[in-house]
Amino acid sequence: MDMNNVNIEEIVKQVLSGMTGNAPAAAAASTPAAPAGNTIPKKARVAMMTEKKHFELQEYDLPEVGDDDILVKVEGCGVCGTDAHEYKNDPFGLIPVVLGHEGTGEIVKMGKNVKVDTAGKPVKVGDKIVTCMIFKDDPEITMFDLNKKNVGGADVYGLLPDDDVKFNGWFADYIFIRGGSFGSTFFNVSDLDLDSRILIEPCAVLVHAVERAKTTGILKFNSRVVVQGCGPIGLICIAVLHTMGVHNICAVDGNEQRLEFAKRMGATTTVNFMNFKGVEALTEAVKEAQGGHLADFAFQCTGNPHAHSNIYKFIRNGGGLCELGFFINGGDATINPHFDLCSKEINLVGSWVYNLRDYATTFDFLKRAKAIGLPMSELITDKYPLEEINEALEKNLSMTGLKIAVVNK
Ligand SMILES: NC(=O)c1ccc[n+]([C@@H]2O[C@H](COP(=O)([O-])OP(=O)(O)OC[C@H]3O[C@@H](n4cnc5c(N)ncnc54)[C@H](O)[C@@H]3O)[C@@H](O)[C@H]2O)c1
Ligand SMILES: [Zn+2]
Repeated sequence: MDMNNVNIEEIVKQVLSGMTGNAPAAAAASTPAAPAGNTIPKKARVAMMTEKKHFELQEYDLPEVGDDDILVKVEGCGVCGTDAHEYKNDPFGLIPVVLGHEGTGEIVKMGKNVKVDTAGKPVKVGDKIVTCMIFKDDPEITMFDLNKKNVGGADVYGLLPDDDVKFNGWFADYIFIRGGSFGSTFFNVSDLDLDSRILIEPCAVLVHAVERAKTTGILKFNSRVVVQGCGPIGLICIAVLHTMGVHNICAVDGNEQRLEFAKRMGATTTVNFMNFKGVEALTEAVKEAQGGHLADFAFQCTGNPHAHSNIYKFIRNGGGLCELGFFINGGDATINPHFDLCSKEINLVGSWVYNLRDYATTFDFLKRAKAIGLPMSELITDKYPLEEINEALEKNLSMTGLKIAVVNK
């Protein structure tokens, strides 16, 4: 698969076309009830996206838990840009689908063969877990297969085609983790609080980006770093850098509130690009914010092609750049290959999602970020019950919060 020309929609389509998607008639209930207490109900609800911009709660029999399977009671799940994308236009052609891949919950039942998670950590009923990628072509994969797999060719719960199982995504009361040759990976994260667990997936994106940045050999503890874009991705980028000991961070955005948050995450200086006309003036402001120096390294965390064009100007000769802002195709960007790249000898890396190892690093990052008082939980600005999943997606589309989450009662 050509990762140099990434088009997420095509990739997801290709991946999904290899799977069966037989959708039996929905046993939809008009007013399904939430499960009561800790006993496992016979039936439970999923939020089924039945058409564009519309989820409905449907009730189905919970599947039989086989010897290798796990049944998890969902506690919460973050709303991802990918969910919003699918909600708006169904670009992946998944409807009907149960979305939600940034989820976490408690194991309520598991098969006798399930003893450890993907990292080899013991698991038992009552443990809190997250799922990671599904390697259906390589079910034996473990996180010790260093960097063997990124997401090319992998699936995730929450972007699976609907089938008889139904409980395929985290926007539900329960999720069913299939064992054996299905290739599921999952981690026991009982030692993290609920908010941290909901933030694992987006944080893994930044752990991976920083790992990619480190491959250039330029990112050092005393580097001057620019982080452009202070949405959840840029803010977490600052938190990861700060937590690992990089303390000279300049945050660039056009939103004062987000820039204030960036400071609380560890940015030492901020630049509001709205206050400057033209890239030369903006470059001067970034330079001034860094004591008269251009950046040693920069992270591009917006999906704006102009922002990509600009960022080269902020970097010193021989410096580095990690471009991670284009999870989906956001259009072409213009650069001058002579001035921006070649004569400056810029060390450029792209970064896209994460691998299994990044997940393990992310658990440690979240513990350390909390220990040093970073306001990670405040990234989750809005929490909705499952019944209000349509509102949660609309809130995400309105771009008025940071991280939106569905949290079950
Ligand atoms: N590499 C990956 O695997 C990966 C994973 C998830 C998301 N992403 C990408 O990361 C990007 C950011 O995600 P997010 O959730 O933080 O998005 P977001 O839209 O909430 O944040 C983007 C921020 O960039 C700022 N911005 C826009 N134009 C700018 C400019 N010219 N200069 C400086 N700041 C500017 C906006 O004000 C906003 O605060 C998205 O485009 C997404 O596709 C990548
Ligand atoms: Zn996501």
